[in-house]
Amino acid sequence: MKKILVTGGAGFLGSHLCERLLSEGNDVLCVDNFYTGSKDNVKHLLANRNFELMRHDVTFPLYVEVDEIYNLACPASPPHYQFDPVQTTKTSVHGAINMLGLAKRLRAKILQASTSEVYGDPEIHPQTEDYWGRVNPVGIRSCYDEGKRCAETLFFDYWRQHQVDIKVVRIFNTYGPRMDPNDGRVVSNFIMQALQGKDITIYGDGHQTRSFCYVDDLIDGMIRMMNGPAGFTGPVNIGNPGEFTMLELAQQVIALTESNSKLVFMPLPQDDPKQRQPSIELAKAQLGWQPNVALQDGLLKTIQYFQQVVRQAK
Ligand SMILES: NC(=O)c1ccc[n+]([C@@H]2O[C@H](COP(=O)([O-])OP(=O)(O)OC[C@H]3O[C@@H](n4cnc5c(N)ncnc54)[C@H](O)[C@@H]3O)[C@@H](O)[C@H]2O)c1
Repeated sequence: MKKILVTGGAGFLGSHLCERLLSEGNDVLCVDNFYTGSKDNVKHLLANRNFELMRHDVTFPLYVEVDEIYNLACPASPPHYQFDPVQTTKTSVHGAINMLGLAKRLRAKILQASTSEVYGDPEIHPQTEDYWGRVNPVGIRSCYDEGKRCAETLFFDYWRQHQVDIKVVRIFNTYGPRMDPNDGRVVSNFIMQALQGKDITIYGDGHQTRSFCYVDDLIDGMIRMMNGPAGFTGPVNIGNPGEFTMLELAQQVIALTESNSKLVFMPLPQDDPKQRQPSIELAKAQLGWQPNVALQDGLLKTIQYFQQVVRQAK
């Protein structure tokens, strides 16, 4: 049995990761400051004697004994990370320093949840890991994009300078149950609007594309990376290369929810990337990983979850 620390474990992805690690027989320490996550996301795990929940902010040092660390702590949606941008950068940068320091002391393996945002508004398509990105350093998304880029730099410097065993995954848009219904991410937005019969808000003309990965596939990729070939540090893209326009996504959501919602168009937010699609050749070759859940199947499971959320709110 391994003792595994998951920072940001009470968030959307973290809660699924804790669940999977527990089901595989590990002892899990979930650390979270509940900034965007919640106890509700992990309440079904509290009765498990191998699960422990600790309130802690990763911008402060943490002294615990573990074998592996998954570093997920960081608000991920634009309204949340832009609400307190200084804290967002601190969480990425100081959080990385603190968790890498812990990994160094413990000689523990550490995985960083990085992001496709490190590619910014990319000039190449699909994005491969050797592309350095096109990121605005002074815009309203920079606290997140540059914070995550700096965290990657720190991971690679701890690896070169201190031989810390690092793993870096670049996560592309992921969706599924336990997404925050109000955090402004496109899948949750569309589903909530459709279920409540509200207008579906499309930013821009709706022809910009995104790729959407179902959460179970993503968690599988992360765990494969942690347990992957020795010396394979990444960065490695984990995401679903299936590409959809916002209009196509909205139409699928309307069809699957049997909603009467209409589409309304609003101006594009600043620095919003027009296209995002992972190349997953490296993940296939090094980890034998590729996503298995089709968009329609993942959307159905997510819609079921949000139907429950809407019922409970009544
Ligand atoms: N969901 C995606 O599509 C996606 C895409 C790319 C990268 N990621 C990365 O994956 C990770 C998890 O994302 P998510 O979608 O689950 O977001 P989330 O907001 O649901 O989860 C983040 C968690 O981190 C916690 N947290 C924030 N600041 C903290 C701090 N200073 N100390 C301790 N805990 C803190 C939050 O309370 C929350 O539980 C993030 O690092 C995010 O950048 C997610």
